[in-house]
Amino acid sequence: MRVDHIPAVSAIERLSFPQAWPQNAYRREILENPTAHYIVVKDLALQFEARTALQPLAISSDHDGLFDRIARFLRPNQPPLPVASDTELRSIVGYAGLWLMTDEGHVTTIASHPEQRGKGIGELLLLGLIDRALAVGARWMTLEVRVSNTVARRLYEKYTFREMGVRRRYYSDNNEDALVMWTDALDSPSFLAALDRHEQRLAERLDVEIRLGDRVRNLRNG
Ligand SMILES: CC(C)(COP(=O)(O)OP(=O)(O)OC[C@H]1O[C@@H](n2cnc3c(N)ncnc32)[C@H](O)[C@@H]1OP(=O)(O)O)[C@@H](O)C(=O)NCCC(=O)NCCS
Repeated sequence: MRVDHIPAVSAIERLSFPQAWPQNAYRREILENPTAHYIVVKDLALQFEARTALQPLAISSDHDGLFDRIARFLRPNQPPLPVASDTELRSIVGYAGLWLMTDEGHVTTIASHPEQRGKGIGELLLLGLIDRALAVGARWMTLEVRVSNTVARRLYEKYTFREMGVRRRYYSDNNEDALVMWTDALDSPSFLAALDRHEQRLAERLDVEIRLGDRVRNLRNG
């Protein structure tokens, strides 16, 4: 995820969560938080369709906003940040994030566009986070999820996340409890078996080649 992707990310976020993060929170995460890792999934077929579409985009990348002008003033010698085209922004169908805290990868957020759910995008995002977590040295992954969020819970369970605790009244919008879930150790046979099984199936389902990083390859080769 780049800063110029944030308008598209925020649009999905507002459709996905009762309390959306402000766009500035994402800017800070990307630009200032060294423990943070954020990713997006783009549907390149959608990008192609958008290129030929006549409708103007409902979200704007706001690249001449105050923040960008101040950033350019403060860092005049830095190369300008990339600016996503409208077609690129339209192709973003999901996003997710992770904090690396000592040796745990803490999933901070994950969402696919409501019109694109049930197609494997959420799972691809989770796989992307797992790959990133391994690359930056995490040994486990953890997250909080609403007790009522059975869709997300099913997704996490596929990758060995299990309930290890409850945070009472964690969500302030409705005082719902959060389940705290943890994976098996990321280098354990059980986790790697789950990864193998589901990655292959997902690649077939999405009809894409999934290329996980060196760390996964090394673990697989023992
Ligand atoms: C959770 C979320 C990211 C899943 O994304 P998605 O793109 O719909 O998920 P996928 O199509 O990749 O499905 C992956 C798995 O999720 C689970 N799942 C997806 N849709 C489901 C449904 N309707 N019922 C039950 N489980 C479901 C299944 O385990 C599925 O694997 P399977 O296809 O082998 O059964 C998406 O529903 C979302 O953005 N929700 C709103 C935001 C949110 O709640 N995020 C989680 C915060 S903790």
